[in-house]
Amino acid sequence: MPEFIPVIKKDEIQHQISRIAETISTDYQGRELVLIGVLKGAFLFLADLVRQLTLAKVKIDFLQASSYGADTVSSESIVLKKDIDVDIRGKDVLVVEDIVDTGLTLAYLINHLEGFGPSSIKVCAMIDKRERRAAAVNVDYVCTTVENGFLVGYGLDYAEDYRNLPEIYHMKL
Ligand code: IMP
Repeated sequence: MPEFIPVIKKDEIQHQISRIAETISTDYQGRELVLIGVLKGAFLFLADLVRQLTLAKVKIDFLQASSYGADTVSSESIVLKKDIDVDIRGKDVLVVEDIVDTGLTLAYLINHLEGFGPSSIKVCAMIDKRERRAAAVNVDYVCTTVENGFLVGYGLDYAEDYRNLPEIYHMKL
Protein backbone atom coordinates (compact mmCIF):
# COMPACT_ATOMS: atom_id res chain seq x y z
CA MET A 1 0.00 0.00 0.00
CA PRO A 2 1.56 3.38 -0.95
CA GLU A 3 2.18 6.04 1.67
CA PHE A 4 0.75 9.53 1.08
CA ILE A 5 2.51 12.48 2.70
CA PRO A 6 0.65 15.81 2.43
CA VAL A 7 2.70 18.40 0.54
CA ILE A 8 0.29 21.19 -0.38
CA LYS A 9 -2.95 21.67 1.54
CA LYS A 10 -6.26 22.56 -0.05
CA ASP A 11 -6.26 26.15 1.30
CA GLU A 12 -2.69 26.71 0.20
CA ILE A 13 -3.49 25.56 -3.36
CA GLN A 14 -6.39 28.02 -3.55
CA HIS A 15 -4.30 30.80 -2.02
CA GLN A 16 -1.54 30.29 -4.60
CA ILE A 17 -4.07 30.17 -7.45
CA SER A 18 -5.59 33.47 -6.28
CA ARG A 19 -2.13 34.99 -6.18
CA ILE A 20 -1.18 34.03 -9.75
CA ALA A 21 -4.70 34.78 -11.07
CA GLU A 22 -4.26 38.35 -9.84
CA THR A 23 -0.88 38.68 -11.58
CA ILE A 24 -2.15 37.13 -14.82
CA SER A 25 -5.22 39.41 -14.75
CA THR A 26 -2.99 42.44 -14.37
CA ASP A 27 -0.57 41.31 -17.08
CA TYR A 28 -3.32 40.65 -19.66
CA GLN A 29 -5.75 43.43 -18.70
CA GLY A 30 -7.62 44.73 -21.77
CA ARG A 31 -6.40 41.82 -23.92
CA GLU A 32 -8.01 38.59 -25.02
CA LEU A 33 -6.35 35.49 -23.57
CA VAL A 34 -6.49 31.90 -24.78
CA LEU A 35 -5.87 29.39 -21.98
CA ILE A 36 -4.66 26.02 -23.22
CA GLY A 37 -4.86 23.32 -20.57
CA VAL A 38 -2.64 20.26 -20.83
CA LEU A 39 -4.74 17.16 -20.29
CA LYS A 40 -5.38 15.37 -18.18
CA GLY A 41 -3.59 16.63 -15.11
CA ALA A 42 -4.34 20.36 -15.47
CA PHE A 43 -8.14 20.05 -15.56
CA LEU A 44 -8.78 21.05 -11.93
CA PHE A 45 -6.08 23.71 -11.86
CA LEU A 46 -7.42 25.33 -15.05
CA ALA A 47 -10.99 25.20 -13.74
CA ASP A 48 -10.04 26.97 -10.50
CA LEU A 49 -7.69 29.44 -12.18
CA VAL A 50 -10.05 30.59 -14.93
CA ARG A 51 -12.79 31.41 -12.42
CA GLN A 52 -10.46 33.81 -10.66
CA LEU A 53 -9.28 35.74 -13.71
CA THR A 54 -10.78 39.20 -14.02
CA LEU A 55 -10.43 39.42 -17.81
CA ALA A 56 -13.35 40.22 -20.09
CA LYS A 57 -12.41 37.84 -22.91
CA VAL A 58 -10.98 34.40 -22.21
CA LYS A 59 -11.08 31.37 -24.48
CA ILE A 60 -10.30 27.85 -23.30
CA ASP A 61 -8.94 24.86 -25.17
CA PHE A 62 -7.01 21.70 -24.36
CA LEU A 63 -4.05 19.75 -25.64
CA GLN A 64 -2.94 16.28 -24.72
CA ALA A 65 0.49 14.75 -25.18
CA SER A 66 1.90 11.44 -24.12
CA SER A 67 5.36 9.92 -24.08
CA TYR A 68 6.39 6.43 -25.08
CA GLY A 69 7.67 4.65 -22.00
CA ALA A 70 8.24 6.17 -18.58
CA ASP A 71 12.04 6.08 -18.69
CA THR A 72 12.61 8.08 -21.83
CA VAL A 73 14.15 11.54 -21.66
CA SER A 74 13.79 12.34 -25.34
CA SER A 75 11.30 14.87 -26.67
CA GLU A 76 11.24 12.81 -29.89
CA SER A 77 9.26 10.17 -28.07
CA ILE A 78 6.44 12.60 -27.19
CA VAL A 79 3.31 12.35 -29.33
CA LEU A 80 0.31 14.64 -29.56
CA LYS A 81 -2.90 12.84 -28.61
CA LYS A 82 -5.27 15.80 -28.85
CA ASP A 83 -4.76 19.09 -30.67
CA ILE A 84 -6.43 22.48 -30.13
CA ASP A 85 -9.56 23.59 -32.03
CA VAL A 86 -9.45 27.32 -31.26
CA ASP A 87 -7.61 29.53 -33.77
CA ILE A 88 -4.69 31.08 -31.87
CA ARG A 89 -3.10 33.00 -34.78
CA GLY A 90 -2.21 36.48 -33.51
CA LYS A 91 -3.57 35.67 -30.03
CA ASP A 92 -2.02 35.73 -26.56
CA VAL A 93 -1.74 32.15 -25.33
CA LEU A 94 -1.23 30.88 -21.79
CA VAL A 95 -0.36 27.18 -21.52
CA VAL A 96 -1.72 25.74 -18.27
CA GLU A 97 0.30 22.74 -17.02
CA ASP A 98 -0.15 20.64 -13.91
CA ILE A 99 3.51 19.90 -13.23
CA VAL A 100 6.72 20.60 -15.12
CA ASP A 101 9.29 17.87 -14.50
CA THR A 102 11.94 17.33 -17.22
CA GLY A 103 10.23 20.10 -19.21
CA LEU A 104 10.34 17.99 -22.39
CA THR A 105 6.55 17.81 -22.74
CA LEU A 106 6.26 21.56 -22.37
CA ALA A 107 9.09 22.22 -24.85
CA TYR A 108 7.37 19.95 -27.36
CA LEU A 109 3.96 21.61 -26.84
CA ILE A 110 5.33 25.16 -27.07
CA ASN A 111 7.10 24.28 -30.30
CA HIS A 112 3.85 22.81 -31.63
CA LEU A 113 1.79 25.87 -30.64
CA GLU A 114 4.33 28.29 -32.12
CA GLY A 115 3.52 26.72 -35.48
CA PHE A 116 0.02 28.28 -35.31
CA GLY A 117 1.50 31.82 -35.17
CA PRO A 118 0.21 33.18 -31.83
CA SER A 119 1.38 36.68 -30.88
CA SER A 120 2.69 35.41 -27.52
CA ILE A 121 2.98 32.19 -25.53
CA LYS A 122 3.49 32.09 -21.77
CA VAL A 123 3.34 29.19 -19.36
CA CYS A 124 1.59 28.77 -16.07
CA ALA A 125 2.18 25.67 -13.90
CA MET A 126 0.69 24.50 -10.66
CA ILE A 127 4.00 22.85 -9.68
CA ASP A 128 7.52 23.44 -10.91
CA LYS A 129 9.56 20.32 -10.06
CA ARG A 130 13.19 21.20 -10.53
CA GLU A 131 15.42 18.16 -10.02
CA ARG A 132 15.09 16.42 -13.38
CA ARG A 133 14.83 19.46 -15.68
CA ALA A 134 16.28 18.57 -19.08
CA ALA A 135 14.76 21.20 -21.39
CA ALA A 136 15.34 24.92 -20.95
CA VAL A 137 11.71 25.97 -20.58
CA ASN A 138 10.57 29.18 -18.96
CA VAL A 139 7.65 28.86 -16.56
CA ASP A 140 6.18 32.35 -16.23
CA TYR A 141 3.62 31.78 -13.46
CA VAL A 142 4.13 29.11 -10.77
CA CYS A 143 1.99 28.21 -7.76
CA THR A 144 4.55 26.07 -5.96
CA THR A 145 8.08 24.82 -6.49
CA VAL A 146 9.29 21.44 -5.25
CA GLU A 147 12.70 19.83 -5.71
CA ASN A 148 11.71 16.22 -6.30
CA GLY A 149 9.32 13.38 -5.43
CA PHE A 150 6.28 11.89 -7.14
CA LEU A 151 3.14 13.89 -6.41
CA VAL A 152 -0.52 12.90 -6.70
CA GLY A 153 -3.86 14.58 -6.10
CA TYR A 154 -5.65 17.70 -7.36
CA GLY A 155 -5.48 16.39 -10.93
CA LEU A 156 -2.13 14.59 -10.65
CA ASP A 157 -2.29 10.84 -11.11
CA TYR A 158 -0.40 7.64 -10.60
CA ALA A 159 -1.57 5.17 -13.29
CA GLU A 160 -4.79 7.23 -13.63
CA ASP A 161 -5.62 6.99 -9.91
CA TYR A 162 -5.73 9.70 -7.22
CA ARG A 163 -6.59 12.67 -9.51
CA ASN A 164 -9.64 13.27 -7.32
CA LEU A 165 -7.73 13.82 -4.05
CA PRO A 166 -8.47 17.40 -2.93
CA GLU A 167 -4.89 18.19 -1.95
CA ILE A 168 -1.41 17.29 -3.15
CA TYR A 169 0.51 14.40 -1.65
CA HIS A 170 3.99 12.99 -2.05
CA MET A 171 3.39 9.32 -2.91
CA LYS A 172 5.88 6.75 -1.65
CA LEU A 173 5.51 3.26 -3.04
P1 IMP B 1 7.90 16.35 -18.23
O1 IMP B 1 7.83 16.23 -19.72
O2 IMP B 1 8.96 15.44 -17.64
O3 IMP B 1 8.05 17.76 -17.74
O4 IMP B 1 6.58 15.72 -17.66
C1 IMP B 1 5.42 16.42 -17.55
C2 IMP B 1 4.26 15.49 -17.30
O5 IMP B 1 4.64 14.31 -16.57
C3 IMP B 1 3.24 16.21 -16.43
O6 IMP B 1 2.35 16.96 -17.21
C4 IMP B 1 2.60 15.05 -15.70
O7 IMP B 1 1.57 14.50 -16.51
C5 IMP B 1 3.71 14.02 -15.55
N1 IMP B 1 4.36 14.12 -14.23
C6 IMP B 1 5.60 14.55 -13.97
N2 IMP B 1 5.86 14.51 -12.65
C7 IMP B 1 4.74 14.03 -12.06
C8 IMP B 1 4.36 13.78 -10.69
O8 IMP B 1 5.12 13.99 -9.72
N3 IMP B 1 3.11 13.29 -10.50
C9 IMP B 1 2.22 13.06 -11.52
N4 IMP B 1 2.53 13.30 -12.79
C10 IMP B 1 3.78 13.78 -13.07
